[in-house]
Amino acid sequence: MARKSLKFGALIHGVGGNVSAWRHPEVPVDASVSFPFYRKQALKAEEGKFDLVFIADGLYINEKSIPHFLNRFEPITILSALAAVTSKIGLVGTLSTSYSEPFTVSRQFASLDHISGGRAGWNVVTSPLEGSALNYGKTEHPSHDERYRIAEEYLEVAKGLWDSWEDDAFVRDKESGVFFDPAKMHRLNHKGRYFSVQGPLNIARSKQGQPVIFQAGSSESGKTLAAKEADAVFTGGESLEETKAFYRDVKRRAVQFGRSEDDIVILPGINPIVGRTEEEAERKYQEIASLVSIENALNYLGRFFEHFDFSRFPLDEPFPDIGDLGSNSFRSGTDKIKRNAKEQGLTLRQVALQAATPRGEFIGTPEQIADRIQRWYEEGAADGFIIHSNLPSGLSDFVDLVVPILQERGIYRKEYESDTLRGNLGLPIPANRYSLAKVKS
Ligand SMILES: Cc1cc2nc3c(=O)[nH]c(=O)nc-3n(C[C@H](O)[C@H](O)[C@H](O)COP(=O)(O)O)c2cc1C
Repeated sequence: MARKSLKFGALIHGVGGNVSAWRHPEVPVDASVSFPFYRKQALKAEEGKFDLVFIADGLYINEKSIPHFLNRFEPITILSALAAVTSKIGLVGTLSTSYSEPFTVSRQFASLDHISGGRAGWNVVTSPLEGSALNYGKTEHPSHDERYRIAEEYLEVAKGLWDSWEDDAFVRDKESGVFFDPAKMHRLNHKGRYFSVQGPLNIARSKQGQPVIFQAGSSESGKTLAAKEADAVFTGGESLEETKAFYRDVKRRAVQFGRSEDDIVILPGINPIVGRTEEEAERKYQEIASLVSIENALNYLGRFFEHFDFSRFPLDEPFPDIGDLGSNSFRSGTDKIKRNAKEQGLTLRQVALQAATPRGEFIGTPEQIADRIQRWYEEGAADGFIIHSNLPSGLSDFVDLVVPILQERGIYRKEYESDTLRGNLGLPIPANRYSLAKVKS
């Protein structure tokens, strides 16, 4: 079967994922709560025929959180607004399975799916930050493993609820007065370890059957959940070799769950910095990096480790031994930070600056960036990419300068294939389980 063409998502991140990008002259200081800003970025991504926009989220902040986290939109709300001003691009939002109820969340995503005509996606996260418990009346944050067990049952419930109505259940015959066919309405009657949900859900399936499920954890449990339940995976994207290994691992696990490799799309996040020359690209990187103070960088690093205070350690000595810290939060990320520091003999200053101002491979001229994207795609590290941009112009540079090269090379679409997110990602529409059972019996 022919390989699916490249896929792209745009992470819209207000004043920036970088601790200090908001200070750059180009960044509107209120971008994280500015609908015009989100609309402009979404329309630019749609102009570039991107598959989706992606909204990240978190449930706990404190004084050390980066500016974007302090004052930002709730994902479903902003995506609903974006649904009204876009027509083709997918709308993917992050929502936590550790701090919400499946009945509510299934309704919200099903509603977004209808509002957008089949373009909704849900980035299922388990919430890494312990402080989240304090905002939800809980005495403790569930452990990493338990969060994934909750997420697995949660997704079973959500997918079950989304099938409450068979596709032709709503008869809506004014003549006879028959609004729906009761034989095509189904109660889930789920009673599990964490959730008890009768159903049915009070909204039907959309044009794409069910919202697209994204997963963004990369630990063993994260990869297993993704392989079993997800349609797409958003992952780090640090090096080609590492990302290739991740890609093969997740696809292999999906096959073990009886799925096809094509049923799951793997999208590493990258942060392209495009210059008309190499020097221009380097200058743009330095402009952003120079805004980050070491104090900012230590705070940024600390968040991954439960907002740990790294300032108590000497900056220019080897990264301190902090034991298990981090393994109950961003486990896959914190394990990697500790491993890299040890293997490469990095100091605390180097680790903090690397975390806060990562360089990545995708800095250069449009041709160089297109070459690297093509290489990652053709060598089996990625089905596509989630594009982060520290500055708003990062996305427009990518769309204006890199996209045309990829289109010219025939590995990226010139026009949308579909008006649903599943259609553009080349994912099958899941059959309604009850209709399927009738066909099989
Ligand atoms: C690329 C990427 C994006 C993520 N985005 C979010 C997010 O927006 N909100 C969130 O709460 N967690 C996010 N996470 C955290 C994961 O959902 C997960 O909680 C964390 O990585 C720990 O799980 P793991 O050890 O399985 O990776 C993200 C993780 C990765 C790797």
